[in-house]
Amino acid sequence: MDLQLKGRRALVTGSSSGIGEGIARMLAEEGVKVVVHGRNRERAENVAAQIGAVGVATGDLSSDEAAAAVQAEACVALGGNIEILVNNAGGSSTGNTTKAPIEISTQDYISNYHANALASVRLCQLVVSDMTAARFGRIINVSSAVAVQPNNLGADYSSAKAALNNFTVSLAGALRGVGITVNTLSPGIIMVDGLLRFGRQKYGNPNLTIDEVTKRLADDKVFALPPAGRLGTPQDLAIIACTLASPLSGFITGANYRVDGGQVRGLN
Ligand SMILES: NC(=O)c1ccc[n+]([C@@H]2O[C@H](COP(=O)([O-])OP(=O)(O)OC[C@H]3O[C@@H](n4cnc5c(N)ncnc54)[C@H](OP(=O)(O)O)[C@@H]3O)[C@@H](O)[C@H]2O)c1
Repeated sequence: MDLQLKGRRALVTGSSSGIGEGIARMLAEEGVKVVVHGRNRERAENVAAQIGAVGVATGDLSSDEAAAAVQAEACVALGGNIEILVNNAGGSSTGNTTKAPIEISTQDYISNYHANALASVRLCQLVVSDMTAARFGRIINVSSAVAVQPNNLGADYSSAKAALNNFTVSLAGALRGVGITVNTLSPGIIMVDGLLRFGRQKYGNPNLTIDEVTKRLADDKVFALPPAGRLGTPQDLAIIACTLASPLSGFITGANYRVDGGQVRGLN
C-alpha cells in the first residue's frame, strides 16, 4: 500500500535513539524527508547518516527558547515547514522508579512535566500556524501505557504523560477542519538500547542477546510480559506512526493508539 508519504517533511524529536530512531528510519524508508533530533549532536548525526535523513536539529526541549531553535533548525534542513511532527523525545527525567507518589518532590513532578508534556506542547504551538496555512499537518505525540494505567511508583512521569494525552484531545478538537490531525501513540514496554543495557548490567553479561535479556527480566518478575508474549520493538511503533502520518489518515484525530502488546487492560 502506498501511504503517499514520499517527499513529505518530518521532524521526529528524540530520534537519536530508541523508538524515535525506529520511527525516523521507517519514515525515511517511505520517502519522507526526515530531520533527526536529540540533545547530543554527534549521536543525532550518526543516526541521520545511517537512515538517510536530510539533517539534524539538536537541543533540549525543556525550555521555550531551545524548542524554538530546534524548530528553526529543522525547517532549514527540511527546506520548508514541518508537515509531520512526531513528538517522541521524553522518558522519565528523574528516574524515579522506587518512590511512592507522596515521596516524589514537586520539583521532580515539574521536571517531568517539562520533559514529557511541555516539550510536545511547545513544538505543537510552534508548528500549527504553518500547518494551518498549508491545510495539512500530522502531529503524533508519543505517550506511554502508564498514562492510562499508572504504576504505584514513578507518578511524576506517568502523570505528565497523562497530561499529554489530555492535551492531544484538546488540540485535535480545537483544530477543527483545517487538515491537521493530532493523535497519541502509547508504547508499552519496548526493547530499546537503554533497556538492553540495563539487563546486561543487571545480569553481569555484556553479551546477552535481546531475547536472553527479555527472558531473564520476565523470569525475574521485573515486569510481566504482555499478552502478546514478547516486548515491543521500535518498529512496532513505527508502523502505526507512518500510518498516522499519512495523508490517507485524515479521519483519525484525537485518538490514542496503544502499541503495548495488550498490556493495558482497558477498553481503549
Ligand atoms: N521504551 C519504552 O519502553 C517506552 C515505554 C513507554 C513510553 N516510552 C516513551 O517513548 C519515547 C522514547 O523513549 P525511548 O525508550 O525510545 O528512549 P531513549 O532511547 O532514551 O530515547 C529518548 C530520546 O529522547 C531524547 N530526549 C530525551 N529527553 C529530551 C529532552 N528534554 N530534550 C530533547 N531531547 C530529549 C534523547 O536524546 P539524547 O540523545 O539527547 O539523549 C533520545 O533521542 C519517550 O517519550 C518515552 O517516554 C518509551
